Amino acid sequence: MKLKYIALLSFALLIIAPIQANVKPAPEWGPTGHRVVGKIADTYLKGSTKRAIEKLLKRHSLSFVSTFGDEIKSDDRYREFYTWHYVNMKANESYEDSEKNPKGDAVTGAEYCIKILKDKNASDDDKAFYLKLLIHIIGDIHQPMHAGLAEDKGGNDVKVKWMGKDTNLHRVWDSDMLEGYNMSYTELASNADALSKEQIKVIEAGTITDWVNESHALANTVYKNVKRGDNLSYKYAYDNLTIARSQLQKGGIRLAKLLNDIF
Ligand code: ADE
Ligand code: ZN
Ligand code: ZN
Repeated sequence: MKLKYIALLSFALLIIAPIQANVKPAPEWGPTGHRVVGKIADTYLKGSTKRAIEKLLKRHSLSFVSTFGDEIKSDDRYREFYTWHYVNMKANESYEDSEKNPKGDAVTGAEYCIKILKDKNASDDDKAFYLKLLIHIIGDIHQPMHAGLAEDKGGNDVKVKWMGKDTNLHRVWDSDMLEGYNMSYTELASNADALSKEQIKVIEAGTITDWVNESHALANTVYKNVKRGDNLSYKYAYDNLTIARSQLQKGGIRLAKLLNDIF
């Protein structure tokens, strides 16, 4: 009798575990992507900005705190911040004319963080919290699938294979493609493309909304190039890693620009 129960329980677990693993949307740029953005931003910070940030972050690096936004997702007390990681728009829409999520999105989230960081009356603890979130969100908005469609949760529901293994289009861009590249975040950051002063100026220009619209345009192309069930492999990485690396670099430069303006 006991054996029968154990067999039944094992069978149920065998069925439930993969279902559970599938319902949870992928995390953000994996840790590597966020750390690259932090590491690149670091190289563009003014001395005075660096000192202000060091004090708030108690000497932890931007890369170290860049994953904080994902870490607090496991803590129910921070549930209200969940929608700040992404922004959804219809394919032919820009952020300005899209229907806004009443719970907030990456744009309103980042703007709120900036507001607290500029507020003379905010406590250092609050400033540290929203600084860590801002560092994370600016990374997220440069992942094209964080500015994708609502109907498939930014590609989370577009099931594909990566090198023959089940995954989804969102996760390919968050982590599969970068991990497959097999470079550490410091190597990726130090091998970012050399840019002229003019090129950096162009990247720094614009608003968070402009950057989200740019990411959304990239998401439209990503969707066009992939069909459900595709097995994405070396050719996909060959065609898309340049874009992913460029987005990480833009994320870093723009994060530094925001921080230099705030501090
Ligand atoms: N992660 C969870 N839901 C998402 C969505 N709708 N768009 C992008 N990323 C998400
Ligand atoms: Zn993600
Ligand atoms: Zn995130």
